[in-house]
Amino acid sequence: MIGIINKLLFEFVGHQWGAETEGKLRAETGTQMVEFRMDTYYPDTEWQAQLAAALRVTGQAEEAFVWDFGHYCGVELLKGFSGFVRGVTTTREVITRQPRIHNTLSSTFAREDRDRINEKFRLAELSDRTIMHYQSPNRLCTLYRSIAQWVADEFGDTIVIEEPRCQKRGDAECEIHIIYKGKKGQPA
Ligand code: HEM
Repeated sequence: MIGIINKLLFEFVGHQWGAETEGKLRAETGTQMVEFRMDTYYPDTEWQAQLAAALRVTGQAEEAFVWDFGHYCGVELLKGFSGFVRGVTTTREVITRQPRIHNTLSSTFAREDRDRINEKFRLAELSDRTIMHYQSPNRLCTLYRSIAQWVADEFGDTIVIEEPRCQKRGDAECEIHIIYKGKKGQPA
């Protein structure tokens, strides 16, 4: 996992549950001295341990926690890296750009890590929807759905999200359909 996401996880816990809880999370994960970096790739297993610890210290259920974290990431990523979405006016444009954004961010990493990042996402485009084929040991399809919904709310678009296949339900990959229904208050 590129370090920005780990960094946001700790910040999110501090922001929502306070410095003491963030401190507990740091202690539990042995990361008191670690400053997660954007230009560093951290093993996915470390991320998984950090997320599990975050659920323990906050007492949250995974779905609710990751959904809220997705909205936090929406603000931090889309606004913090606004250059990637300059001139964009629709949710669909953001969704179609996302794999390219990730690929760009991974471009300085070693081949093996780059492949690991890029192989998580494969986007297919249909007239009324995009279909994300997502396969990752991190099983963060809820994060995907949450960021997509945050983007739609931000742009005033109506979307419907369906996930007919999901790794957490035993499928080999998640298949996330984002169906575009036009701007809020206007016909599609
Ligand atoms: C400017 C926009 C964005 C930036 C800068 C950004 C950045 C990143 C970075 C650096 C990662 C870590 C990649 C890795 O190590 O695998 C990541 C992960 C992720 N991002 Fe984005 N992202 C953006 C937009 C989006 C959007 C629009 C979505 C979904 C609709 C999204 C969904 C995800 C998911 C689900 C992961 C976790 C992947 C995994 O580890 O399985 N991102 N993002």
